[in-house]
Amino acid sequence: MEKFSLQIPASSGVEASVKRELEKLGYGKTSAVNGRIQLSLALCDVARLNVNLRCGERVLWVLDTFKALDFDQLYQNIYNFNWQELLPKDAKILLYAKSVKSKLGAIKSITSVAKKAIVDKLKMHYKCDLFESGARFMIEIDIFEDVATVTLDTSGDGLHKRGYRTLAYSAPLKETLASALIDMSYFHPEKPFADVFCGSGTLPIEAAMIACNVAPGLNRQFDCQKWGDSFQKAVEIAKEEAKDKMCLDREVNIKGFDISENAVSIARYHARRAGVENKIHFQQADARNFSTKAKFGVLISNLPYGIRIGKEQDLALLYKDFGTMVRALPDWNCYVLTPDAKFERLFGQKAQKHRKLYNANIECCYYSFPSKNKPTK
Ligand SMILES: C[S@@+](CC[C@H](N)C(=O)[O-])C[C@H]1O[C@@H](n2cnc3c(N)ncnc32)[C@H](O)[C@@H]1O
Repeated sequence: MEKFSLQIPASSGVEASVKRELEKLGYGKTSAVNGRIQLSLALCDVARLNVNLRCGERVLWVLDTFKALDFDQLYQNIYNFNWQELLPKDAKILLYAKSVKSKLGAIKSITSVAKKAIVDKLKMHYKCDLFESGARFMIEIDIFEDVATVTLDTSGDGLHKRGYRTLAYSAPLKETLASALIDMSYFHPEKPFADVFCGSGTLPIEAAMIACNVAPGLNRQFDCQKWGDSFQKAVEIAKEEAKDKMCLDREVNIKGFDISENAVSIARYHARRAGVENKIHFQQADARNFSTKAKFGVLISNLPYGIRIGKEQDLALLYKDFGTMVRALPDWNCYVLTPDAKFERLFGQKAQKHRKLYNANIECCYYSFPSKNKPTK
């Protein structure tokens, strides 16, 4: 059986969550190089990963690796690859490049040399001009310490695009990051979960999908599906397998609150699209008024913050009141994501754990405030 050498990029700080999910999916212990988890798997697994990964960003197929000290070497090595075995004559070829600690650093030149090499090879093989009107092939040249790795993106759109979040609301969390925040918490499907600043609903929706085993890629397409019958069939099978594993009859206690009525209706709409509408109770409410008799829950919120929303003084007061509210829930494990460096001071408590993470390239800190009682996971 043909093996595919794969890389799964993870955003900074999320690698351990991706490794954990790979282990849960049955792929054993994996290792990461430069924020990318490396695997060698069969075609059916390429499809399974695309359909099931919650925290990983993409599934990249490694085509070639070579030394690239100058543009001649780059051109020749790319030209030498058997592109005609992969790309049809109408392939829409998109080139991306990255370069770190390498002699070749000009990204624009790297992409244009690489594209020319691929096009020259295909023209030579197909003996015609290329119109690039067909299926998309996203190719990345990643040069690190003068070694180029050429990958083909089997996912296409990033895996954070689950397909349910179609309406815009201020400062949404990336779905892959939301899923990783839940993974890093004491979340358990049988315990209560709340996001009291839920915005467009990302955290409660991801929590409900995890709790009910709804695969994140069920309602979207992947680029590899357009690359021929075997990929298309593998994705169809992976989706069927995933559907068989859903447990939508599971009793859950998942809540989402936001002060904005508009946000709440957007969140409900997204939950409906994700197929978990009746698993989440959304309500318009001020986070400061949250209280519950439920015990041992998990509260995860991505707070409003200065640079994109909210006025500074109001925010200081909100963080202070939020701290008071959280301390009134001694049995709950609480987690906060915010880029605001003054957060702990305003909140009135030092976190037990700090993790540096990035949301839409904004450096944030993920603060953990475990319950005073024994953790529940
Ligand atoms: C950073 S956004 C959350 C984004 C959300 N995680 C998402 O993925 O869409 C912060 C949210 O806090 C809400 N908010 C602001 N003040 C609030 C308050 N006092 N109580 C509840 N929600 C509030 C805003 O309406 C906004 O939707």
